[in-house]
Amino acid sequence: MNQPVMGGVVALNVPAYVKQQRLVAWVAEIAALTKPDSIYWCDGSQEEYDRLCEKMVAGGTMKRLNEDKRPNSYLACSDPTDVARVEDRTFICSTDKVDAGPTNNWTDPVEMRATLNGLFNGAMRGRTMYVVPFSMGPLGSPIAHIGVELSDSPYVAVNMRIMTRMGRAVYDVLGTDGEFVPCVHTVGAPVVAGQADVAWPCNPTKYIVHYPETREIWSFGSGYGGNALLGKKCFALRIASNMGREEGWLAEHMLILGVESPAGKKHYVAAAFPSACGKTNFAMLVPPASLNGWKVTTIGDDIAWIKPGADGRLYAINPEAGYFGVAPGTNTQTNPNCMASMEANTIFTNVALTDDGDVWWEGLSKEAPAHLIDWQGKDWTPAIARETGRKAAHPNSRFTVAAIQNPVIDSAWDDPAGVPLSAFVFGGRRSTTIPLVTEARNWVEGVYMAATMGSETTAAATGESGIVRRDPFAMLPFIGYNMSDYFQHWLETGRKIAASPAELPKIFCVNWFRTDESGKFVWPGFGDNMRVLKWMIDRIEGTAGGSEHVFGITPRYADLSWDGIDFAEKQFDQITSIDKAAWVDELKLHAELFEKLHHHLPKEMVSTKAQLEKRLAA
Ligand code: GTP
Ligand code: SPV
Ligand code: MN
Repeated sequence: MNQPVMGGVVALNVPAYVKQQRLVAWVAEIAALTKPDSIYWCDGSQEEYDRLCEKMVAGGTMKRLNEDKRPNSYLACSDPTDVARVEDRTFICSTDKVDAGPTNNWTDPVEMRATLNGLFNGAMRGRTMYVVPFSMGPLGSPIAHIGVELSDSPYVAVNMRIMTRMGRAVYDVLGTDGEFVPCVHTVGAPVVAGQADVAWPCNPTKYIVHYPETREIWSFGSGYGGNALLGKKCFALRIASNMGREEGWLAEHMLILGVESPAGKKHYVAAAFPSACGKTNFAMLVPPASLNGWKVTTIGDDIAWIKPGADGRLYAINPEAGYFGVAPGTNTQTNPNCMASMEANTIFTNVALTDDGDVWWEGLSKEAPAHLIDWQGKDWTPAIARETGRKAAHPNSRFTVAAIQNPVIDSAWDDPAGVPLSAFVFGGRRSTTIPLVTEARNWVEGVYMAATMGSETTAAATGESGIVRRDPFAMLPFIGYNMSDYFQHWLETGRKIAASPAELPKIFCVNWFRTDESGKFVWPGFGDNMRVLKWMIDRIEGTAGGSEHVFGITPRYADLSWDGIDFAEKQFDQITSIDKAAWVDELKLHAELFEKLHHHLPKEMVSTKAQLEKRLAA
């Protein structure tokens, strides 16, 4: 140990391997403000992980699962008021409001700092402040970026170890003067002397705050997911989108998958779907056996950093090291790779506990167990569920698991060079209007499709589910600057590629979620999405047909492969039909969006809309 430096009253206990004085000074400053009882510097070791988990078991935050059924795995159940991202409490505090844009909450940074200084003052009393060093992207690679999160939540510390490259080695990269994004997090629930702590401390007041110009993150009041694991949405999307804008790259809410044809030709595809709309599932999909030898491998399941390479192509990396995936709906039929990934070494949050110490959630098995302890710690039986409609697992319950546990992880998944992209896919959750798949005729039309995408809201964020809202590029909650400027950035990226020897990636739009009169999904989805993916690859290779219409190119029934599935042409028509009246209404919603985004809205968006309208009216 170095000399113990005093931060207010608490000993800093800086490990000898931490060489950066700016970092140490910042830790001291935050400690002086938040006044934790102690400071703990995470080294990222397995021993440390086990110790912190056991401490949380002793304190009631976690339960250890049955060692025979789910080795080295835990269940954490949160406070019922702290179960999802809080978009209405998320702020982009740029100096000028116009830089946050009309889609983000904004407060003057000076005012916000004053508010947060008040809230953070003494917020960690009675707790340990964990110093969590992490790298987004392979450690030491030229495209990676480092963050340090100061958090009073051990749950955050152990989840960050799975979700990022976390630990001592980060300090070697950081050295004496390397850059890092400072991330300050508190659950906002100081322990009052003499009073027992609660299992899931949090605060009804919540603030998820970003200062894009100084690249800082401050999060108050929540211990859950993207509100608290600050490397994910806060850093890798909101702050990184600002870095990307300045430096000429893209930070996107996208999965990245590899797809290999039976002939052995491989393409990489990045796909943006809004939260809880199928990224993890698409990234790990198991192609139907009847498709004879197509293979899908995973680079990432939620976030992509995409940079132009020397050859003009776009190269993508997954900045994360783990998956924080939606549990409900996941089973051995829908996603066997995902189920295999979480056989051990997994943290489950807000799922139900079985009587034999394992986990369960809606959709895991056709029949629910006769008795469970639900995510709120209450007895649950199928009869109770029928009577009250109470779910055993929260709809936004999740698993945290290391990417390397995925049986179909791509061999290049942590290659610092990234993988070259052949296509972008954008998809929403729409029970009507949007066809199964559409290919954009060119880059600008693709950007238009992505920009005007709508999707029904899900349990991944607080607020009502099932409401159609515009979610441009699946980035509505995650863009760290003005949305119109972001569209412009995409258009410019396309122009740069077009000026290089490289071919532009194709852009497709998908919708797995069209329903019939009784509200049931018509498309089987999951593994069968391979049929659509195969068509996209065949289009790229120039070997598949399609028909051109008002909005782009869609496959005819005969253009998809139907081996091994009973899916009638009539059903296909149901999910590919274009209802003119519905589209007239849809375009009104595009107009509403553009009105909201009129400041800096690229002219290409307006002209593309005019062309669509003209074609629709013809
Ligand atoms: P985030 O982690 O919130 O960003 O979500 P995600 O986009 O990774 O979504 P995920 O793959 O976890 O899927 C969310 C929900 O949609 C789960 O309940 C899945 O079972 C369900 N789902 C995924 N793919 C499909 C599909 O092709 N068809 C249908 N009907 N449901 C799907
Ligand atoms: C999402 O909501 O898009 C997620 C989950 O991936 S969270 O990490 O909570 O943001
Ligand atoms: Mn996500």
